[in-house]
This record gives sequence, structure tokens and C-alpha cells, in this order.
Amino acid sequence: MDGRWAGARKSGWVARREEVTITALPQPSVPDSLRGEGCSRRPPLDKLLFMELGREADTVSLESKIGRCKLRISMIGCGYVGLVTGTCLAEAGHQVLCTDNDAERIAALKAGVVPIYEPHLDAMLAANCRSQNLSFTRNAAEAVRAADAIFICVGTPPLENGEADLSAIDNVARLVASEALTSKLVVEKSTVPAQTGQQLKRVLGLYRRHGAVQLRVASNPEFLREGTAVQDFLHPDRIVLGVEEEETEKQLREIYRPILERRFRCPVHLGACPPAKSPDLLITTMNSAELIKHASNSFLAMKISYANMIADLCEKVGADIKEVTRAMGLDPRIGPRFLDAGLGFGGFCLPKDIQAFIRLAERCGVDFTMLKEAERVNKRRVDLLLEKIRKALWVIKGKRVGILGLAFKANTDDIRFAPSLEVIRALLAEGAQVRAYDQEAMDKTSAIFPQIHYCRDPYEAAQDVDALLILTEWEEFRQLDWERISDLMLRPMIIDGRNLLDPAAMMERGFEYHCFGRPIENQTAPKAIIHAPEVFLAGAHVPSAPSTEIVT
Ligand code: UDX
Repeated sequence: MDGRWAGARKSGWVARREEVTITALPQPSVPDSLRGEGCSRRPPLDKLLFMELGREADTVSLESKIGRCKLRISMIGCGYVGLVTGTCLAEAGHQVLCTDNDAERIAALKAGVVPIYEPHLDAMLAANCRSQNLSFTRNAAEAVRAADAIFICVGTPPLENGEADLSAIDNVARLVASEALTSKLVVEKSTVPAQTGQQLKRVLGLYRRHGAVQLRVASNPEFLREGTAVQDFLHPDRIVLGVEEEETEKQLREIYRPILERRFRCPVHLGACPPAKSPDLLITTMNSAELIKHASNSFLAMKISYANMIADLCEKVGADIKEVTRAMGLDPRIGPRFLDAGLGFGGFCLPKDIQAFIRLAERCGVDFTMLKEAERVNKRRVDLLLEKIRKALWVIKGKRVGILGLAFKANTDDIRFAPSLEVIRALLAEGAQVRAYDQEAMDKTSAIFPQIHYCRDPYEAAQDVDALLILTEWEEFRQLDWERISDLMLRPMIIDGRNLLDPAAMMERGFEYHCFGRPIENQTAPKAIIHAPEVFLAGAHVPSAPSTEIVT
């Protein structure tokens, strides 16, 4: 770390991108006791990995194999970001202590219960607790004192006006300042508007109790996606470090070295990670790092809204959004991802980040109309789906509607800002009876809508319903026995809010099929017969035993 600093700083900052060379990690030897068990050559890596981590002696040799110093890291906040980051850094060999002001959450974590559904996380967490690389405490002051580096991973939920609520960050800053007895690196991991790091530095300085203590601040935005968070952390596209001191850059490099050099055991690929280029390491200022997160998420949101806007036009001109976006995505300047049209983006990140970014721009007098439009397009998706339901069902009152998918996206149990919640709310308000199935998110949804019927499986959700809605892109919904579904329904009618299925195939199967931006002409489903709905509850007006061809 030579004069680069002085020069760069004097001449204004130059973000640097670094390539990292990778050396493959020696594969662990398979103990005899495990040979021949299960998979052909080697038992599941998880088992091997955690046996490795379980056996103290081995763990030490593992560290020597990975050849790095063990840093003491504390995570403040045990939500998605804190838990995944903390567990993965422990997996990478660091000593990680996590704390949260939710006593129940800490108690659960200490008991090995992971309060979120995230593939691979629970096994990794259990193994690293066993190897004592990872632990939890209710005592935030202890977590501050025990750490070399403190990652702030608290929530920054939206305020009424859409601005990010930074009160939790402020609380942590004052806690760190008052509790730190030795110098610390304080890393912003939560998603925050630009210039928050400067405020954090100021508060740390104002509330610092022990004059000799140095409290350096850095910004290290995360780009984890729910459902693939462990993979996203261990195999990131890029690692962004917003730093102001050489020492800070050095320390953060050390923290991320196992990830950059891919020197870790990967539970996702069971030790056989696909060859890939190493993640880019981008060193920049704190303001730029903070802005990179909001800019990236807002661009993803805009891309989705752009695809949805085009989908609406496709419906009018008889084009197919899947074909259109596939062709667009073949252009590397556009790229194929995040062009899936449908019900729009939900979740705890994109909606609130685009809002906070718009508010930041407004505060700075910069016109972000483009993002406001992306937000408006997104908000209309649910209305458009309800219009399709009304058009297909004519009258919603008294109808039975089955819902497949409640989570805001597949592979998560998270329903925060999930479009499904608005759809259910509207259907109930219009007098429909709703039953729903989701493989992970029913518990959380039942806390909001206890009045709807939650089903054991997708088939129960189709039982005697007038319409079946697909609201989350779970893979399992592609594999359903649609013949059976058709027999179970009162009327074989699917409204696919995620364009998950193939219109032609569904209509071939005799379904009325509706989706976003795909041609669905001649919906005369030869085999569709209306079943006499004896099962209908009292009060629902039903024509007696009609049996007609459906003509749409
Ligand atoms: C997002 C960002 O992707 C991630 O980098 C950041 O760190 C956190 O926010 P996440 O909220 O987990 O991650 O979900 P993401 O996979 O981005 O999906 C967001 C929403 O967009 C979901 O509701 C999803 O269904 C929807 N989506 C996604 C689309 O409608 N179309 C697409 O093509 C992609």
C-alpha cells in the first residue's frame, strides 16, 4: 500500500478495480467411515465440511490450509444481511459474534433455530456454532468491545415519506462510541442513502467516550438476493469497499480475502464450485459506495418495470413479451436477467430502495422522474391482475379463488411488500373466498390473513375453485399435474401473474389461461365443462347444473 493513496487522494479519488488470482483449495480427504455412503465418490460435502469444522484439530489445519489471520468481527443486527454475512464470514474462518436487540431472536439463534428461510444458512450456522467461529449474544456492548471490526446490519425501513429510517444506525453509532475501549473499524452493511457514512463518522466522534480510541468508518454495501443469499455472498459479482484510510482498506481486504481467493468450503456447490472469474474488488469513497447500492437496486427495479411496460403493449399489439425480452437480453449491453414481466417487484429491498433513492434525489434537487415512473408502473401490476380476474370471473363476490404462491419471490418465506398481499386484500374486499398454498410463506401470511384457508399442497388450493392464481415463481408450480388440477377445479381457469407456464400448453390442456404480455387468442377450451358446484357454500348464487362449452 504505497503512495497510491496520497496521489489518489490529492488528485481526487480514483475507484480501483482489482483482479485476484485463484488457487484451488485442496479437497478434504474422505474418512473411511464415510466411504461408500450415499453419493458415489464422496459423502455430501456439508457432512464432510461440518465434520471438518466439528473436529477442533481439523479446524485448525483448515485455517492453516486457508492461511489467513482470524479477525474478530461483530454483527449488529441479525436479519437477512447480518445472519448471512456473519455466518459466511465465520465459514470463511473469522471469529464472528452476532447481536440483536430482539431477545427472542437471539435466544432462538443460540438454540440453533434460524428465524428466516434461506437455503444452506441453517446448516452453515449450526456448523459454525459448533466450531465456535460463530456465536450470539444479547449483550450489544460485549459485541462492540469484543470486535476488531463491527458490521452494522440493522434495518433501514421506509418512513412514511419514503425516506430511509436511519434511527437504528444512529443508535448503534452512539452505542459503539460509548462502549468501545479499543480502536474499531465500523462497517456500514445496511442499505443507506449516500452521505450516511459521513454522519456516522460525525456521531462516533461526538459520542466517543475514550479519547485514544480510533473509530474508522467504511461502507460495504451488500447485493444479496433472498433465496440465494449464501451463494451470492460466497460468489459475489463484486465486492464494493467505500473507505477513507489505507488501514481500513487493508483490514477489509483481510476480511474478504477468503471470499476473493475462493478459499472456503462452499455448501452450495458441495465443494465443486463452477470455475468462474474472481469477484471484482472495487475500492471507492463512502459516498460512492452507498450510492452504488441504491443505483444498482433502482436500475434492477427500472429494468423490471420496463419489461412490464412492454408486456402491456404486447397485449395490445399481439406480441409475446417472452420473445421480446429474450431477444433484448441477447444484447450483452442489456443482458437477459431481470426482464421477467408479471406482477412486478416486491420484497424488502427494491420497493424501499427506489423510494429512498427518489427522496435523496429530491433533497438534492435532482429530477428522478424516471424512477418515479418505474415505481408507478410497478404499483399498477396488481391492479392489472385484478382487472384480468374481474374480466374472467365477471363477478368476484361469492367466487372461490385459489392462490399458488404468497412469498414476494421464490425460495424465500419473506412476504414483505409481496404483491400477493394486495391481491388477497382486494379479493377479500370484493367478497371472494380465498384459499392459498405456498411452500414456505403460509405461516407469515396467516398472521396477516387468518381468515383465508391455507392448504397442504397446490391441489388442495385448486379444490372447487373458480380460478387459480399464480403469484410467486416457485419452480414446483411448473411441475404440477395439470390434468388433476383441472379435475379439481370448478372451472379450469388459470391467471398466471408470473408468466410461469406456457400459454399454448395450458390451453392445449383445456385451461382458460391468462398471463401478462403473451398472446392467448382462441381460448375456446374444447374440454372445459362447468362442474355443478354442490360444494358451494350457502348464499353463493349458482346456476343449477349447467354443462356448456366455454366460449371466451
Ligand atoms: C434485491 C436485489 O436483487 C439484491 O441485489 C439486493 O441486495 C436486495 O434486493 P431481493 O429483494 O432478494 O434482492 O429480490 P430480487 O431477486 O431482486 O427480486 C425482487 C423482486 O423482483 C421479486 O418480487 C421478484 O419476483 C421480482 N422480479 C425479479 C421480477 O418481477 N422480474 C424479474 O425479472 C426479476
